[in-house]
Amino acid sequence: MTVILKIKKTAPDEDKIARAARVIKEGGLVAFPTETVYGLGADAFNPAAIEKIFIAKGRPRDNPLIVHIADRSMLANLARSFPRRARALSEKFWPGPLTLVLKKKAHVPAEVSAGLSTVAIRMPANPIALSLIRAAGTPLVAPSANLSGRPSPTRARHVREDLGGLIDLIIDGGSTPIGMESTVVDFTGRYPKILRPGAVTAAQIEAIIGPVIPAGEREDTFQPKSPGMKYRHYAPRARMILVEGEDFREKICTLITEAGRERKIAVIGFHQDSRYDNCLFVHAGARSRTVARRLFGILRELDSQGVELIISEPYPARDGLDLMILDRLRKAAGAEG
Ligand code: TXA
Ligand code: MG
Repeated sequence: MTVILKIKKTAPDEDKIARAARVIKEGGLVAFPTETVYGLGADAFNPAAIEKIFIAKGRPRDNPLIVHIADRSMLANLARSFPRRARALSEKFWPGPLTLVLKKKAHVPAEVSAGLSTVAIRMPANPIALSLIRAAGTPLVAPSANLSGRPSPTRARHVREDLGGLIDLIIDGGSTPIGMESTVVDFTGRYPKILRPGAVTAAQIEAIIGPVIPAGEREDTFQPKSPGMKYRHYAPRARMILVEGEDFREKICTLITEAGRERKIAVIGFHQDSRYDNCLFVHAGARSRTVARRLFGILRELDSQGVELIISEPYPARDGLDLMILDRLRKAAGAEG
C-alpha cells in the first residue's frame, strides 16, 4: 500500500512532513517533489533503504544516486573537499537545479555512489523537499521517481503510475516547475565538466567560474564518468524518432506515409503553424521553459493513448535551455547519451 499525502508547497503542513520523515527514519521510501522532477527519497546513510530504491525502480546497480541536502552544514559529512569553484557555484545556484560531483567521504555508503570515490550533491529549491530533509535529520538520496528507463515524473500521478504499490509514501506537492533534471557538474577531474545539461546553463556556469568542459565532450571515451549516461533514459514506450535538419516537415510527412495508416502516430512540434495529416499533432509550447515543463508529461500521455510511433520536430535553438531539451529528446529517441 502506497500512502498519498497532499502537501501545500507554499506552506508545508508540519504534521504531514513529520509523518513522511518518520517513514524515512524507519528506512522506507518517500517520493517528493523538487523544482526539477519528483525524487524517490531514502536516508543516504541507510544502505538497506538505498537497496530498496534500486529494487523499486529496477535501476542498474552501477548508476549512482544524488544526495539531497537542506543546508551547507550537511556537506561536511559527505564530501572530502569543497573546491573553490564548486563553492562559488553553490553560492549562486543553491537551492536550485544544480548537482555538484565531489570527492566523497569514506563513510558515505558505497551503495550511494555505486562504488565510485565521488558523490553527487544538490540542494533542491522546493520547500517540501527542504522541510522533509530537515525533519528526517539526514540527507536523502533521491533518483527521479520513475521506473528505470521511463520519463521522469513531473506530477504525483506519474509517480503513482510507475511506483504505486512499490513504495511507502508519495507526497503530492503539485507539478514540478522546471520539468527536467538538474545540471550535473563534476569537480573531481582536472577541469570542471558538465555531465548532464540542465536548467543551469553552461553560460551561467562560465560566467561565475570560467571555462567548463561542455556536456557530451568526453575526455575519456572508454569509461563514461556519469554512469547513468549510458542508459536509455526518458523513453516513452512508443518508438520515437527525432527528426533533424531544415527539411524536417517533408521528412516527417514521408515517415508518416511510410508508417502506414494502421499505426497510431503522434508528432510533437515546436511551431504553432506545423500541419501534418494522419497523425495526432501536439504543440509542445513556444518557449523553452514551457517545453521543458511539459515534455515528459506529453510522452507519458501519448503512451497512455496507445500511440505506437512518436515523431519529434527538431528543437529550434531559442536560448540556454536548448541543450537540456535536445539532450532529453535525443535520449527519448534512444540515442546513447
Ligand atoms: O533534478 C534531479 O537531479 C533529480 C531530482 C529528483 O533531484 N534527480 C535525478 O536523479 O535526476 P537521477 O538518479 O535520475 O539522475 C542522477 C544522475 C545520473 O545520470 C547519475 O549517473 C549521475 O547523476 N550521478 C550520480 N552520482 C554521480 C557521481 N558520483 N558521479 C557521476 N555522476 C553521478
Ligand atoms: Mg532519472
